[in-house]
Amino acid sequence: MNKNMLCQRAIDALKNSYSPYSNCKVGAALLTESGKIYTGCNIENASFSPTICAERVAFSKAVSEGEHSFTAIAIAGEKSGVLTPFSPCGVCRQVMAEFCNADFKVLVVKTKDEFNEYTLSQLLPNSFNLKEI
Ligand code: THU
Repeated sequence: MNKNMLCQRAIDALKNSYSPYSNCKVGAALLTESGKIYTGCNIENASFSPTICAERVAFSKAVSEGEHSFTAIAIAGEKSGVLTPFSPCGVCRQVMAEFCNADFKVLVVKTKDEFNEYTLSQLLPNSFNLKEI
């Protein structure tokens, strides 16, 4: 799977965002080791705290289908109709750390053809993990 194609899937996924409160649409495309892609979008709520980010929707879909091995996630955000880099929130980084290795790739979409690439260990160094204590 080409990284630009994964980013395009994240851009496609943000179209289903339910975000009447923030007006920020976010899409995520999560790639499994076997090459499957699970997408997600952010889903907001009038009571605010039940809001769930696009990344965690994608992980929830994948894990609930039995997937536990992932290589990369692309994240695309749109504010006022313009693609804008959305860096994953702390809660989503912790969820990534539960299932992914330090070299898991996080692609943050900048424009239709450009993205910033990080590893999970760059975004969440020294993370809490019960397997290591
Ligand atoms: N959001 C995501 O979906 N992913 C992130 O990594 C950052 C934030 C969503 C949550 C909320 O619906 C909106 O963006 C504004 O915070």
